[in-house]
Amino acid sequence: MTVGKNVPHDSASTHVSGESIFIDDRPFLKNEMVCGFLGAPVSHGRLKEIRVEKALNVPGVLGIFTHRDLANNRWGAIVKEQPILVDDIISYEYEPVCVIAAENYKAIEKAKKLIELDIEEIESVLCIQKSIDNKDFLTAEKKIARGDFEKAFESAPHTLEGIFENGGQEHFYLESHACAALPLENNQIEIHSSSQHPSETQHVVAQSLGLSYHQVVCVVKRMGGGFGGKESQAAPFASLVGLCAKKLKRPARMIINKDDDMKVTGKRHPFKNFWKVAFDNEGKILGYKIKLFSNGGAYTDLSESILERAMLHSDGCYYIPNVEILGRVCKTNIHSNTAFRGFGGPQGNATIESVIEEIAHYLKKDSFEIREKNIYQGEDLHTPYGQLVEHNTLPEILEKIKISSDYDKRRKEVVEFNKSSQTHLKGIAVTGTKFGIAFTARFLNQANALVNMHLDGTIQVSTGATEMGQGVNTKIQQIAAGAFGIPVSKVQVMPTSTEKNHNTSPTAASSGSDLNGMATLIACNKIKQRLTSVYNTHLSGGLTPADEIEVDNTQDLSHIVFEDSFVKDTKSGKSISLKELISIAYLNRVSMGDYAFYKTPGLGFDKALGKGQAFNYYTNGMAVSEVLIDKFTGETKVLRTDILMDLGRSINPGIDMGQVSGAFVQGMGWVTAENLVYSDTGVLLSHSPTTYKIPSIQDTPREFNIDLLENNTNDVCVHRSKAVGEPPFLLGNSVWNAIKDAVYSVRPENASKLRLPATCEEIVTLLDE
Ligand code: MTE
Ligand code: HPA
Ligand code: MOS
Repeated sequence: MTVGKNVPHDSASTHVSGESIFIDDRPFLKNEMVCGFLGAPVSHGRLKEIRVEKALNVPGVLGIFTHRDLANNRWGAIVKEQPILVDDIISYEYEPVCVIAAENYKAIEKAKKLIELDIEEIESVLCIQKSIDNKDFLTAEKKIARGDFEKAFESAPHTLEGIFENGGQEHFYLESHACAALPLENNQIEIHSSSQHPSETQHVVAQSLGLSYHQVVCVVKRMGGGFGGKESQAAPFASLVGLCAKKLKRPARMIINKDDDMKVTGKRHPFKNFWKVAFDNEGKILGYKIKLFSNGGAYTDLSESILERAMLHSDGCYYIPNVEILGRVCKTNIHSNTAFRGFGGPQGNATIESVIEEIAHYLKKDSFEIREKNIYQGEDLHTPYGQLVEHNTLPEILEKIKISSDYDKRRKEVVEFNKSSQTHLKGIAVTGTKFGIAFTARFLNQANALVNMHLDGTIQVSTGATEMGQGVNTKIQQIAAGAFGIPVSKVQVMPTSTEKNHNTSPTAASSGSDLNGMATLIACNKIKQRLTSVYNTHLSGGLTPADEIEVDNTQDLSHIVFEDSFVKDTKSGKSISLKELISIAYLNRVSMGDYAFYKTPGLGFDKALGKGQAFNYYTNGMAVSEVLIDKFTGETKVLRTDILMDLGRSINPGIDMGQVSGAFVQGMGWVTAENLVYSDTGVLLSHSPTTYKIPSIQDTPREFNIDLLENNTNDVCVHRSKAVGEPPFLLGNSVWNAIKDAVYSVRPENASKLRLPATCEEIVTLLDE
């Protein structure tokens, strides 16, 4: 059985040897052009005229196209309000104004300097507060509530209130946005894209070029990282490269460089959350009210769903009897913010974890104790939106990690250390993740798979899942190999393509393996059922290759099993090699390909009421982190992190451990060093690796212990596994709370002001004040 084993990532060796093909590794085709875009020079303004004559004269420039060349200039993941190329109002700095096709990149750079724009500048809105003041929102107010918050707040022994602010985050995938287009006969076009969402890319390309969907095929071999940044935002680039290819009838590619990518694409949403909390003497939360405001940037993109997920994660891992959660997306003149690992979950979760840290300090108790008091446990396990937390593993995880991390002893050591050290500070904290698995937009919880079995017994699987490093292809490979009892080397997962799998959802919401893995398993089982029937007939009647057989689905054939590349009849003890059986089936004209569809059952969240089954299940985990802070520079080291994750019955523990450690470190980056800096006119100043700091190997915890909880209860997911991609991201937050804990120990009056990210400057300022 390959399922549950540490099968190496299917691209591991070719990534290391450099043989893996990314978009820009594709050999140039005959006549292939390169493309680039011109970004707007202001963050808000009316574009009155574009003059391209001089630029067109640059040697090597083949064409310059504007919104006038597009059949349809509007796209959007939720609301179709976003121009592919500016046609009237420039809404953020660097917004694409026109696209240039040329023989080489130098010509594009020269042309950009010669394009003349007439712009009438308009005052910009650049922060959440100004948007709130102007009532300038991208969405209507959303609400989730239970009980009576006001009453709880008035009658509680203790109350606190405050504002929690978090910054954005750049995805920093190693491969920037990239796409290529090949014009074909009869107006067909083939798009290769670094996209998490080939179907949407196909649709946006078709709509913008005035084509039907059947004229466009979008292929995704792999991405060099996506992290949510390529869920919606790959599509408009594909339109631009498609436009050049279609207009000039030549193949084209568009590879965005790092600086341009960072300036033009959306990031994680900054939030400003206003909260109030009521609690008793023991720290039990009686009521919680939070008003979330996210910075959506210039356009809606996925912001509405991201806000919703933030609201659905505002309870964190904690049961709160009286809750009121309100949310709104602010419109500002920056890049349109988008999906990023966690999809709003981290922002909602970070707020409640921060509030708990404040409750603990106020009551002069250890925050671990406050978390123990409030964690989902006991009789009522309903979330504020009414979903039951089933097979709840949270209390078990908290209890186990307290022991495995040696929390009590280390807490005492931290207190002692802070009394004696003149130069450094320590802090320690536990935080949790209870991440809801499913797209909150119900219709997206569907997938289809195509499985082709060849005569030599090897299999090609095609699904809508896209590989971005997370290992979905390897898991699908294991699922198919496991179904037929063959080695994974006999299964090849094919490039994702809209001509094999249609109407697919983005590979997102951590559910790529859940959905596509299940569809794959169903398709495999359909083929297996036919093969089983063939074998049964063969056993009983001595079927000759020339006979025709009827496939009989009515008998119980569970005694026939697929194992070790053989098909075995456990009743008679007879067996046949899979390859031989395939040959018999083929000669008897039995299909060995199949297609299957899967939709997650039981989902139903009523957005208007803020109630219902939003998720299929929860992926849970907890982390304890300890930090050491230099009092004079604010420099922070993570001394030790212990993580315990409940991933159900992991399909591939090795890959999952990689996901947990990677997500944690990315989460840690968000809460510490990653700081987006804008000028006061809305220009992103931190747009390269020299000015934007992601965590390096030096920043990972000096001692890093990751464990998986044993849990066989998740019967609603393929092979009882659980999704892993995003949930551990939220645990990076334990580092932030450990920093907050450290600041409390010397500057209690300042600790509640700690912003996220807690950069060195931020920490040193709070310690100095
Ligand atoms: N891991 C790697 N190496 N690269 C990525 O881009 N994206 C993350 C996560 N893990 C990502 C990753 C995000 S945002 C999601 S939603 C999931 O992978 C998507 O894949 P899955 O649904 O197959 O887990
Ligand atoms: N998560 C991630 N991506 C999404 C979602 C979601 O819930 N909904 C739409 N895109
Ligand atoms: Mo992940 S943010 O759902 O692509």
